[in-house]
Amino acid sequence: MHTVSEARLVTLEEYIIQSQNRFPGAKGELSQLLRDIGLAAKIISREVNKAGITNILGVDGSKNVHGEEVKKLDVFSDHQLISALERSQITCMVISEENDGIVRLSSKGGKYIVYLDPLDGSSNIDVNVSVGSIFSIYMREARFDPTVKESDALQPGVRQVAAGYVLYGSSTTLAYTTGLGVSLFTLDPSIGEFILCDRNIKIPQKGYIYSINEGSYNTWDLGLKKYIKYCQEDDPDTGRPYTARYIGSMVADVHRTLIKGGIFIYPHSSRYPEGKLRLMYECNPLSMIIEQAGGMASNGERRIMEIEPTAIHQRTPIYMGSPSNVRKALDFLVEYAEEKSMA
Ligand code: AHG
Ligand code: MN
Ligand code: MN
Repeated sequence: MHTVSEARLVTLEEYIIQSQNRFPGAKGELSQLLRDIGLAAKIISREVNKAGITNILGVDGSKNVHGEEVKKLDVFSDHQLISALERSQITCMVISEENDGIVRLSSKGGKYIVYLDPLDGSSNIDVNVSVGSIFSIYMREARFDPTVKESDALQPGVRQVAAGYVLYGSSTTLAYTTGLGVSLFTLDPSIGEFILCDRNIKIPQKGYIYSINEGSYNTWDLGLKKYIKYCQEDDPDTGRPYTARYIGSMVADVHRTLIKGGIFIYPHSSRYPEGKLRLMYECNPLSMIIEQAGGMASNGERRIMEIEPTAIHQRTPIYMGSPSNVRKALDFLVEYAEEKSMA
């Protein structure tokens, strides 16, 4: 039976049409990209949900129960997203975690460049924990140069025209921004549609959760060690000790941070001198989402989205989340900057 509230549901498709109508003259190409990514996400979501049955988590080239060759889910996700982008002929190049070099699409004159982490947190698949897809969209500036080059893609995060992620969790959630706030959708599997849940989600100014791989404590700089000790101190007036939460899928950890507030950190360390996470397809897009929701994202010294990239797969440390928490962490880094030695 249909209820009145069901009738008012806004699907991703309706949202796209409404957004386009707000900008008369817009050709709707960016909307087409979102539509393509939404479709690929539904297919990936379906495969993620049945990963155990189909044995698709197997190592690339292994056989599934039907004796067929199976691909790892991150390779599968990469193919789904790239073929969705190829179909609409408006993207000239894709850069993905799964491909060492740039992937040129057939539309050489296509105006968009898309970065992808097709499946983030993929090691979590084996244990049925949330994973995600991340995307970041730029315009190609050298539109009339017939050769699409890697250097066309080396643009700072502030030049992203849109960014977002899909979280395959207890439900499948899509977060999207074009720089006018963050919209959130949830996939209703019974009708196969993403349903709009929030048009302008905001991160709490301050949160009470810190999220970091604390097993690496001994590899951190002193300022970070001191900040984490600060988070653990007992001071009910300021809401401490904070709660520790670390899923190990950046999308899932950042999504929780967006909704509940707090801080997510992947620092540089003696093990990962440049940090572990990738600037172009992990940190920039998630920073755009967090900033558009009123949060902050820094590499410890400067805004993530202002970093001038020099390589498509480069890494960066990241401190992101509620502004109050991020500022506090940065204060600790400055205070102990001279004492890089371990505590
Ligand atoms: P990916 O699965 O795309 O390679 O990314 C994994 C990343 C990220 O999702 C997560 O935040 C981080 O690796 C976890 O790293 P640690 O296990 O070192 O904490
Ligand atoms: Mn990743
Ligand atoms: Mn990945």
